Formats: sequence, structure tokens, C-alpha cells
Amino acid sequence: MIFPPVSTLHEHRAHRKAAHDDPERYWLTYAHALDWMQCPSKALDAAGLWFPDGRLNASVNCLDRHLEMRGNATALIWQGEEESHVLHLSYRQLHAQVCRMANVLRDHGIMPGDRVAIHLPGVPEGVVAMLACARIGAIHVVLFGGFSPEAIADRLADSGAGVIITADVGRRGAKRIPFKATIDAALDHGAGTAIRHVLVVAVTSETVPMTEGRDRFLSPLLSAASDLCTPEPMDANAPLFLLYTSGSTGKPKGIVHGTGGYLLWAAYTHALVFAHTPGDIFWCTADIGWITGHSYVVYGPLANGGTILLFEGMPSHPRPGRWWQVIEKHRVTSFYTSPTAIRALMTEGDTIPKRYDLFSLRVLGSVGEPISQEAWGWFHATIGGGRCPLADTWWQTETGGIMISLVPGAIEARPGAAAFPLPGVTALLLDASGRILEGEAEGMLCIAGSWPGRALGIWGNDAHFHATYLRPFPGYYFTGDGARRDRDGYFWLTGRVDDVINVSGHRIGSAEVEDALAMEPAIAECAAVGVPHALKGQAIVVFIVPNGPASDDIQARAARAVTTRLGRYAAPERVYVVTDLPRTRSGKIVRRLLRKIASGDIEGFGDLSTLANPAAVTILIEAMRREASSA
Ligand code: WTA
Repeated sequence: MIFPPVSTLHEHRAHRKAAHDDPERYWLTYAHALDWMQCPSKALDAAGLWFPDGRLNASVNCLDRHLEMRGNATALIWQGEEESHVLHLSYRQLHAQVCRMANVLRDHGIMPGDRVAIHLPGVPEGVVAMLACARIGAIHVVLFGGFSPEAIADRLADSGAGVIITADVGRRGAKRIPFKATIDAALDHGAGTAIRHVLVVAVTSETVPMTEGRDRFLSPLLSAASDLCTPEPMDANAPLFLLYTSGSTGKPKGIVHGTGGYLLWAAYTHALVFAHTPGDIFWCTADIGWITGHSYVVYGPLANGGTILLFEGMPSHPRPGRWWQVIEKHRVTSFYTSPTAIRALMTEGDTIPKRYDLFSLRVLGSVGEPISQEAWGWFHATIGGGRCPLADTWWQTETGGIMISLVPGAIEARPGAAAFPLPGVTALLLDASGRILEGEAEGMLCIAGSWPGRALGIWGNDAHFHATYLRPFPGYYFTGDGARRDRDGYFWLTGRVDDVINVSGHRIGSAEVEDALAMEPAIAECAAVGVPHALKGQAIVVFIVPNGPASDDIQARAARAVTTRLGRYAAPERVYVVTDLPRTRSGKIVRRLLRKIASGDIEGFGDLSTLANPAAVTILIEAMRREASSA
């Protein structure tokens, strides 16, 4: 069975109604779009588990079941940084590679339920490693390439991973990114990790130090391994992966996704939003270190038997237009990227994309941040030639897949709006006191009930999941985002309403940045806020109160504290040295005021008498005025 096409408004309504009126029947029916080792007899149980008695294997769904009909069809096209580095892997070849890698992992003692960390640049081995874990029931933990060694050490310790798969180096333009050295530093740093083996993909011929007894190059192990590997039958609610993401507390959370519900949601949403048909060449530009890479580079499109494109390089290297040239060269049909990338590419103008034949494109998508009407319009007109539907897709690591989006053909687009909840998603707007807002309104975006892609919990801390998502508005899943609904029911996302900062589509908690700053002895107090940024969406601005007289390099030290602890992606845009921070009488720093001041909005503060130290605000405003007039 395949997912039904939803290409008219009538069909869209019918699906939403069916999923709403009888979710049990709707999802049990569409569960048959997957291959089960034991078919589920129930969709959702009273404990909130999806397909509780189903058993399946995710790698079988992404590979084996396509072998008979599409064994020689291309599963993966890899375009390397260098033009001549191209690889086409058929389903049969990808299957063989995954089996080899799975056997290597088994040989290293990996059992079902064990965690395997993956820290790789944009090479095919990333996809292979994820599916290899799935094949033997191991839980993959993909770690973003931009994390610092300390950030990696934290995640290795929290997940308890026993094996890590990494690369010698990554290629980024002319630069070499030290993957292996980062892992070495993480392991030196993190005494708390359980890593026994480091398996290294040789991306280049550069030599890297190898620790005897711990580190091994993968390629000889893969060549020696069998290309057949019996897949492990997994409970639908056995964890498929952990993925770390940031929230309003300091410590990043390992979001746990299960096997059955997650895979169904990734596949269903991919089929619906990208109107997937056989022969499509699907390019999602996300790094596999983020959820978008999990659901739409790997699981969704491969479960649907599509062809995925993996690109190692950057949008404008060695010259502007590189992405468009990749689309032309590989006849990409479906292209999914982020507003940050679109904004950057827009600044290069229209003449560059116009040099390329982009007629293979059929559908476009955007994810990760609110997209402005201007960026939407440019992407739609200049890249999509005005003929490709452009879906702004709203979702989160925790939701597993797309939740609110345009469904091409069925819904008319409104530039900048994420449009409507998908079938099975009941999105609501609540006011601060938890009342449901009807009709045209703006409020906090919540989801009522469950959907198959919903995360199982937070690794090692289910109470935390409950407290973060379910306690703020009892009875609903709270997203942390604000949204507006127009009079026709379209949703327009307005950004986070909590203390999460979205820098170029990367989630960073203010508390995470503040915890990093607090490690620097020269800093007595600090606060981090997000401010609007023309290219990055948001940027991090930091306020610090020095411990005693400020040294000349205190700003640099503050920035270094953050990049050392988290990674370069979290580098503060600006660091202000101040004498005091505005606080409530109970001692809480009022970030709302700091955000306003840091955004350059220094008028209209209203009544500050509820603050313990209103003078702190006046002093800050004065400092900003001085800076503005001297700039
Ligand atoms: C934001 C990425 C506006 C939002 C898939 C959410 C968006 C967070 C959109 C999740 C969108 C994602 N419009 N905002 N289309 N898509 N976001 O977990 O704030 O990395 O809560 O998942 O990104 O980020 P995450």
C-alpha cells in the first residue's frame, strides 16, 4: 500500500475529517504503508503509545522492501565537494553497505538498545551508519558537526554510547574540519563517556592520530564484513534514535523517537507535503545532525522508495550558484531548505540562479524558522520559476515530522504562512491563562491529542518531558512557539515564546549560553537573549557583569566561553559589559527588557516600579544611546 495522494481541497478536508473523527481507524489503515514483522492491532493505546503490539525494522522499511521492485533504482546520489566526486548507490548497493556496517557494529559488541554515536560530515557513510544501527536495533545518536568537544562529551556521557563513528576530517571548501581530533578532545575531556571504540571513515588521505586498541579505520572492516545481515525485529516503541536539542533549561535534552510511529509519520508527511512520486529526486539540504536530516534526508524519502541527494559542499563554494548547478546536474525534483539559506542566497541576486536550468524542480519546501514574505516570494519566483508550490513547513525535533504545512495542490499558498495542520494534527492557540482562542487570534501554539510522530520522551528523564511540554497547559502539548491564525484559518508562525534562541535555524537555549558564561571566572552575572538578525533570523546578544574591574579582553573571553562549551554556531553576536541587570523583586533577570534594549528598541518601557533595581534599565538605555550616537 502507498499513501493516498492529497491533491485537492476536497481530499484534504476528507483526510482531516477522517483522521479527526476516527484516528484509530485512519492510522491503522495507513500503518499498512509500512512493512511490519508483526502487524499492529491497535493504533493508539491508553498509555499514549502508538501501534503498541506492532513489530518492525526501520532499515527493512527503507531498503529491503524496495529490493524486489526497485532494487536497481537509485537510492542515494552523493555529490562531493569536488565536481568529479559523485556516487550513485542503487537500493541494492545501499542495502549491502548498510548490512556490512551493521555487521561491523555487531562485531564490536553492539546489541539491540545500545547507543551508537555518529559524528560525520556530509558523506554517504552518515546515512549508512544510521540505517545500520536501525538494522541491529541499536539507537543512533547523531551529533552535529559544529559541536565543540565539550558539547560532544556531554552528549556522549548522557547517552551512554559505547561506539562512535566519525571521520578523519570533513571538507568545507578549501578548509579541513577536524572531526577525529574533535572526538579525541571530547574523549580526553569527558571522563564520563562509555566509548570503547572509535570507528573512523577516511574521507581524505590525511593522517590522523589513532589510539591503539580504541580507534580503527572502517574501510578494511567493511570490506571484510558480509553484505547480508538479519534485521532485528523491534517493538514499535523501541527507541530508533536519540537526538539532542535545546530547550529553556541549561542541559540539552536527548529527545527519544520510537520506531513505528516515527517512521510512519516521516513517511506519511514526506509523501503528503512533497507529493512524492516514484522517480522523484529529493534534496533536503539539512545536516543529518538535526531532525530535518533524520526525517527528510533519510527516513521519510527512503521509506517511500525515493532517491535522495546528499551534497557535501556549501551553497556558494567554489562560486555562487553551486546549489543551483547541483539541481541542474542531478535533475532534482524536490528541494527542501531553510530560510537562513534562502536569505543568504537572495543577496547574490537573480542573475546567478537564472543561468541554470531549474526546470526539473516540481516542489519546494522551507523549514526551521519563520520565513518572511520577501524570502518566500524570491524562493518561489526565482528558484521555483513561479510554477512550483512552496510549502513552509512548521515542526520540531519533538514532533518527529512536519505538523503544519501547505499541501501542494490542495491548499492555496499564502506567502509566509505555514498554512494548515496536516491530517491528524489538532493545532490550537491558547492565551497566557490557557484559554482556547477561536477564529482569528494570536497565542501560544499547542497540540491537542497525540500524533504518530510524537517523541517518546527525553532520554533518562521522562519527568522532564512531562514538565516541559505537558505541564504548562494541562491537556495539551505546548510547542514553545507563538502563532497567529488569520480569518481563513491559516497559521502564521511568529517565533519562540520561551527562552530558546533560533540562530540560522539552530536551537540554542539562553540558559545554555548563560551556563557557559558562568564557567568564566571573570564574569559575575550574565544574561543571553535573541535579537532579530537580517541573515541569521536571530542572533545571540550577551550582557555580562564583570567580577571586579573588567579586563580589556573580557568580551573576547565571554565569547570564547560560549564557543568552547557549545560550539562556534553559538558564538554571541555582541557582548555588552554592564554594571547591573534588571531583576524582579524575587531576583529573576528580566530578559524581556534586555531583549527589547538589545534589539535597539529603547523607548516606551512603561512602569518599571515592579523591578527591584529600575536604575539598571536606565543605565542600560543610556549606554545604548551613547553607543548609537557614537556609531
Ligand atoms: C522553529 C526543526 C517558523 C520553531 C524542524 C520550532 C519554525 C523550532 C518553522 C524547532 C517554520 C521550525 N516557521 N518557525 N516553518 N520550522 N521552526 O527542533 O521555533 O530544530 O519550535 O526542528 O524551529 O526546531 P528543531
